[in-house]
Amino acid sequence: MKQKIIVTGGCGYIGSHTVVELITHNFEVVILDDLSNSNIKTLDRIAKITGIRPIFEQLDLKNSEQTKAVFQKHKDTAAVVHFAAYKAVAESVQNPVMYYKNNFFSLLNTLEAQLEQGINNFIFSSSATVYGEPKKLPITEENQVQRPFSPYGNTKKIAEEILEDMVKAHQDFSTISLRYFNPIGAHLSGNLGELPNGIPNNLMPYITQTAAGIRKELQVFGNDYDTKDGTAIRDYIHVVDLADAHVKTVKRLLNKKQEKSLEIFNLGTGNGYTVLEVIQSFEKITKKPLNYKIVSRRAGDVPALYASTELAKEKLNWETQLNIDDMVASSWKWEENLKNEKN
Ligand code: UFG
Repeated sequence: MKQKIIVTGGCGYIGSHTVVELITHNFEVVILDDLSNSNIKTLDRIAKITGIRPIFEQLDLKNSEQTKAVFQKHKDTAAVVHFAAYKAVAESVQNPVMYYKNNFFSLLNTLEAQLEQGINNFIFSSSATVYGEPKKLPITEENQVQRPFSPYGNTKKIAEEILEDMVKAHQDFSTISLRYFNPIGAHLSGNLGELPNGIPNNLMPYITQTAAGIRKELQVFGNDYDTKDGTAIRDYIHVVDLADAHVKTVKRLLNKKQEKSLEIFNLGTGNGYTVLEVIQSFEKITKKPLNYKIVSRRAGDVPALYASTELAKEKLNWETQLNIDDMVASSWKWEENLKNEKN
């Protein structure tokens, strides 16, 4: 019998790619999503890639009763992978209440409902933002956690503290928090990818939309950082590699391989690229010049962030397979497919 995994936010960007990998690895997937920042068509896209349509429950995880009812219905679930959350940094600065309310109510209702059903495995979608401006690079899991600049980031930091309390209180509860660096790219088939609502905040969708003519020009935020070309460095990771790490994490929990009831892993490649290097890769892959201009720094950006990947390699037996050119090429393939779908 297939083991059942609940994926909250499974129609979203990272969630949907993880659902594909879970199905490919023979898990039965139940997606819980309110479709507030995702699209129901994602289910068709997943089915097209895997040949299997995941079970779908549309609900608002901020609603405790609805959440309990869905967990009661799927009480034979082996683990929960929790992606459902708002994630736009700037929006969270403008509207902190909305962010705290959404990200905490949904987290707490999920935890309460799963405990009620005796579902004791939980994987949390965290972020490298919890390291703030790091004093040491590459960033290991031992790096000090700092209060993030944004309410969004703070929801990740506090959520991890909630998980610390959970494992102290509930002996059987096991959880792994995954701190993502900068996920970009799309499924290699071009049939699944990021669907940002409105104007993208993040670099990669902004690049592809600019090249596709949807945006006039990309603004590069600052070229006066202390880096090789002055632009900021990030550890971009292919979303398919990231999804694969989730499958390994699920297996670690289900096979009772974890060494502590709360474990934390960085998920990055260990390689940092500047904004200009990402643009260069894009221009090389697509053979299209990108319209961009240098503007001043964006508030809250740190000069450089990249991961030490040693711990995930050792404990999850996971390493990234795809490089920056694969990330850029798949993002562009997805953008072109979207364009063709609209025409
Ligand atoms: N950038 C631009 N122009 C743009 C967008 C981004 O120059 O239009 C630059 C940024 O200044 C930064 C880099 O591209 O140097 C990456 O920016 P993103 O917005 O793509 O990603 P961030 O590193 O700012 O944020 C990401 C996630 C957050 C998470 C954070 C953790 O989006 O959810 O990493 O480090 F909190």
